[in-house]
Formats: sequence, C-alpha cells, structure tokens
Amino acid sequence: MAILVTGGAGYIGTHTCIELIRAGYEVIVYDNFSNSSPEAVRRTEEIVGQKITLIEGDILDKARMQKVFAENKIDSVIHFAGLKAVGESVGIPVKYYHNNITGTLLLLEVMQEYGVKKIVFSSSATVYGMNNPVPFVEDMPTSATNPYGWTKQMIEQILKDVYVSDPEWSIVLLRYFNPLGAHESGTIGENPNGIPNNLMPYITQVAVGKREILTVFGDDYDTPDGTGVRDYIHVMDLADGHVQAVKYAERHTGVEAVNLGTGKGFSVLEVIHTFETVNGVKVNYRIAERRPGDIASCYADVEKAKRLFNWETKKTLEDMCRDSWNWQSKNPEGY
Ligand code: NAD
Ligand code: UD1
Repeated sequence: MAILVTGGAGYIGTHTCIELIRAGYEVIVYDNFSNSSPEAVRRTEEIVGQKITLIEGDILDKARMQKVFAENKIDSVIHFAGLKAVGESVGIPVKYYHNNITGTLLLLEVMQEYGVKKIVFSSSATVYGMNNPVPFVEDMPTSATNPYGWTKQMIEQILKDVYVSDPEWSIVLLRYFNPLGAHESGTIGENPNGIPNNLMPYITQVAVGKREILTVFGDDYDTPDGTGVRDYIHVMDLADGHVQAVKYAERHTGVEAVNLGTGKGFSVLEVIHTFETVNGVKVNYRIAERRPGDIASCYADVEKAKRLFNWETKKTLEDMCRDSWNWQSKNPEGY
C-alpha cells in the first residue's frame, strides 16, 4: 500500500516523506518541479536511507496520473501540489486557479476512476480571513482576500461536496499555520525563488548576507509589541501531523477540517530576537508600513487535532530558529 504525495518534492512534502517512511509507509512522489528540484528528493533519500519513487509529472496531466494509479497500488493521497505565493496570485490569477483547482479536479477524477477515496489536502489558515477572532476554530466562517486564498477555500468546498456525493470518502483538510524550520540535518529546507515573501526565509537571507535589511511590516497593530503575531509551527511537527491525518483517514470516513498549529502566537520582533539569541547572529531590520492584507494576530485552536489525531507539536520557536539557520547557513544558495 502506497501513499501518493503530490508536490512531494517541495518544502513541506519532503519533510513529510521522511515522517511517512519512518512510520512504515511506502511513498510515491509526484511533482512537476515548478517550485522544487529532484535534488530535494535525492537528499531526502539520503536522510531516510532508502530510495523514494519519484515521478516527474503534472497534476494537470490526467493521462500521466492515470498511468501512475494503474501501475501502483495507491491507498491514499496527500495533496501538496499547488502554487502558493499570495502576491503572485494577484498578478496571475488564471494560472493559480487553473493549476490549483483544475489540477485538483483532475486528481479527484483519477482517484474516483481507480476507487481511491482517501485524501489529505494542504489547506491554510488563510481561509479564516480577516474578521474572525483568535484563536481560530475549525467551524468558524471562512473567506478569502486573494486568488491563492480562494483556491484553498474553493478546494475545501469541492472536497466537502465529493464527500456528500459519496460517503465512502475520507477527507482531511489540514489548515496549516506558519511552517518554519527544517530537518535537523540541515540538508533540506525551504528554498524560495527570488525575494522571499515570508518572514523566516527573509530573516535567514539577511543573516547570511544575501539581503541587506529586513522590513518589519507595521508596529502599530493591537498586539503586545505592535508587530504581527503568528502561530509558527516546526515543519517536522507539521510532517508528523500528516502521518496522523493519514492514519485517521484510514480509520474514518467523512470530511474534517483540522488546524495544524501550536496554539501559541509570537510577534515579528519576538521571532527576530529569538533567532538572534539562539544563533548568535545579528538581523538588521527597520520598521515600515503595514503590508496590505495582513491581520494583527493569527493562531490556532489546537483542540481538534489533539482530539482526532492525538497529536500536538513538540518543537519550540528556538528549535525553528536554529533549524532554519542550520539549513540556510549550510546552503546559502539553496539546492
Ligand atoms: P512548495 O512550493 O515547496 O511545494 C509545492 C510543490 O508542488 C512544489 O514541489 C511544486 O513543484 C509542486 N507543484 C506545483 N504545481 C504542480 C503541478 N501542477 N503538478 C505537480 N506538482 C506541482 O510549497 P510548500 O510550502 O511545501 O507547500 C505545500 C502545500 O501547502 C501547498 O499547497 C501550499 O499552498 C500549502 N501551504 C503552504 C504553507 C506554507 O507556508 N509553506 C502554508 C499553508 C499552506
Ligand atoms: C502568509 C500568507 C498566507 C499564508 C501564510 C502561511 C501573505 C500576505 N500571506 O501569511 O496566505 O497562509 O503565509 O504560509 O503572504 N513580515 C514582516 N516582514 C517580512 C515578511 C513578513 O514583517 O519581510 C511579518 C508579516 O507582516 C506577518 C509575519 O511577519 O506579521 C509573518 O508573515 P509571513 O511569513 O508572510 O506569513 P503570514 O503573513 O502569516
């Protein structure tokens, strides 16, 4: 029995493959390398000490997916494949909707054709939108403010409708908070193209000397120090959350949205200062205007993940800062 991991060569996908293999699963990675490289999978193989089946393919290529399902006994799918840059999605919405939504629809058609009815989907805390109070609970109303967020929102709806049409499906919608960190070896990690949009890759690139200064987007939020508060989760904890989600899907039919976070928020300044202290490096920063679309605080209610998966995070912000730096300093140019 194998798990098909779409987007398995990416940041969260590679880390999840490690935990899946450790838990005894066979994995088949399916990725078009639009935002990753085979090298990431090669290094993942090195970490786990075994070969990983890697198929270069696009979720927009239905015939190729049919071949993969025909040739392998696939039990469940973890569906990471998607485009994920919020700003970019505003500029090229059609590409985002086509890749993320058409790709998911084609994947679902193939799964239906081959009778594979278990899927764990990468959703995002972005579906909680701008108006919910923290902590975010799974049954709160969802919304979106940009095409990327809409794709997550729409795919959640599509998957809920799939379950209504056929109650044999097991569907888990994982709403990730903010993943940070890397595998402790420092051989795999987050490898953004061009100028990073997210906080930690920006911090590490400033620390390593690739960028001059970090811009802190706003210090006038209604938070303890005025900077934005987020729920940062170590990518290895997140990876373990996927193993638990797959196990849950093996035992239950239904459709469940589940937050994967720590339940605790840290401000931008807390992250910067923790990073500096743990790693003994300086991060130059300056305070600037708020970034449009940002909210003051975002953190998870984590009770449902505990209840359904018997899962909670183990790693600290210190671990995340140390492991992000370990990866960046050993691989200043990425893969
Ligand atoms: P990533 O870009 O590193 O990984 C996504 C992978 O999907 C890449 O390897 C890419 O090449 C592949 N891919 C994209 N389009 C494809 C297609 N059409 N066919 C085949 N492969 C394709 O991103 P990540 O950070 O690992 O995120 C994984 C998933 O989690 C994404 O769906 C993302 O939206 C979601 N997510 C990420 C975050 C985050 O902060 N990293 C937060 C919430 C949700
Ligand atoms: C981003 C995405 C969101 C996605 C989430 C998790 C945007 C607008 N939103 O949210 O859709 O679900 O990642 O991947 O991209 N910050 C700075 N300076 C920087 C970068 C960030 O001060 O150079 C601040 C932000 O204002 C925020 C915090 O750091 O307060 C975290 O930012 P980021 O890493 O981009 O994540 P989110 O804004 O939570």
